Amino acid sequence: LVLVLDFGGQYNQLIARRVRECSVYCEVIPYHTPLHEIERRAPIGIIFTGGPNSVFAGEAPSVDPKIFELGIPVLGLCYGCQLMAQLLGGSVCSAEVKEFGKTETQFDFQSPLFKGLPVSGITWMSHNDYIDRLPAGFQSVAHTKGCPVAAMECKERRLYGMQYHPEVNHTENGVAMLRNFLYEVCGAKGDWTMGDYAKRSIETIRAQVGDGRVLLALSGGVDSSVAAALISKAVGNQLTCIFVDHGLMRKNEGDEVEAAFGGGDLNFIRINARDRFLGKLAGVEEPERKRKIIGEEFIRVFEEEAKKIGAVDFLAQGTIYPDVIESGTGDAAVIKSHHNVGGLPDYVDFKEIIEPLRLLFKDEVRRLGLELGLPDYLVWRQPFPGPGLAIRVIGEITEEKLEILRDADFIFREEIAKAGLDRDIHQYFAVITNMRSVGVMGDGRTYDYTLALRGVTTTDFMTADWARIPYEVLDRVSVRIINEVRHINRIVYDITSKPPATIEWE
Ligand code: XMP
Repeated sequence: LVLVLDFGGQYNQLIARRVRECSVYCEVIPYHTPLHEIERRAPIGIIFTGGPNSVFAGEAPSVDPKIFELGIPVLGLCYGCQLMAQLLGGSVCSAEVKEFGKTETQFDFQSPLFKGLPVSGITWMSHNDYIDRLPAGFQSVAHTKGCPVAAMECKERRLYGMQYHPEVNHTENGVAMLRNFLYEVCGAKGDWTMGDYAKRSIETIRAQVGDGRVLLALSGGVDSSVAAALISKAVGNQLTCIFVDHGLMRKNEGDEVEAAFGGGDLNFIRINARDRFLGKLAGVEEPERKRKIIGEEFIRVFEEEAKKIGAVDFLAQGTIYPDVIESGTGDAAVIKSHHNVGGLPDYVDFKEIIEPLRLLFKDEVRRLGLELGLPDYLVWRQPFPGPGLAIRVIGEITEEKLEILRDADFIFREEIAKAGLDRDIHQYFAVITNMRSVGVMGDGRTYDYTLALRGVTTTDFMTADWARIPYEVLDRVSVRIINEVRHINRIVYDITSKPPATIEWE
């Protein structure tokens, strides 16, 4: 176990994630956790995070300096590094030249932190203050042009500090430096796995839920599926999952979700609400109206079903860490419950929310899903919007257009997978436009729909670039769709990035 002491920095969970990447178990705890509690947990190492304060500000968060006498290795990062320096008798002052961003840095290769790494490289800096005098027994082991102490160490006491952020991608070899701290200094064995994480989460959920009842809205997306699998492993049929099938899923998707969850331990309820949804959407063309109608109808259907179940003790959600960041800090749990499922907690009778994936990043959620035995097609599912295909049928939604779209989209996805591109292109799908054009098939004239293909690469879905799908692949997709799907006689590929376009067409 490594404990990460949280001083309010923006990268704290990222630090935890990096430690997990090094196959070492870790937990993030508040900086004011009592010393005896830290001692009781017997960590093999402690990491202080960064934070927004100056160590000399009046209310600056601090720790009991006795923490340095426990004999446990400590690594301070950014604010954490400055705090360590100050508490141990060094001094920190406001820098004349502030460093932000990528900074050329020289390392002392004799330090265990930099073992096996190049003597210079780029680090990610973000600080106003700097250490101008080291505490007794410490030496500087890295520097930049403007910062004499970019890293420090006291080998005898196993105390280390880095002024920069090794946890962010911009720091070259940053994870290797953390790994050096964990392996070389703390003596970590690196034997922690996602399986251990699953085991521990299952125990925690079991303890929290007791003999209570849990309700989860299952969308079939990665996050809610993994949450369902995890909670059902913990409490079996005390979990009820409601899967509202609005009839706007992709080809086979509803059945796939049912196949994955239907036969097992948990209570799985699939509500086939296609006709209700299509009825409400009849004649509607305006994208925002479509979204509103679907959102409201979803709540209504879920509510009716939840009422049949009656009061539950817990409402479970598949919130993951990036969602938590997105909704800001503070009382994130409350903000999030609304953000994620459109206000469910307002009308479902429950006492508490459980969010077992709250601290995980997307790729970790996927690994956990595999660990729990979920099928590949669920775990590697690309993001799919709540309103489903409704916002990929431009103009009025009819069962005929949906059918055409499902078949075309299926072929596109199949060919992308066959070409081995399904994990490189982050989202790819077909859109049926509301436009018809003239074509010729055989000897006859056709007047049919134009289908658009969209593929994007992105890290965060806030911005995206259009995917450079090889022409041969596009060609195969085009030939197959024209031949296999009726009523499409023209196919275009969307070559706009986001911004100015969005990923979805509506
Ligand atoms: P846009 O079109 O805004 O999409 O560039 C960004 C990402 O969000 C997904 N998306 C949604 N996801 N409910 C969701 O859960 C929605 O209403 C919704 N609309 C868009 C979209 O698929 C893309 O991944």
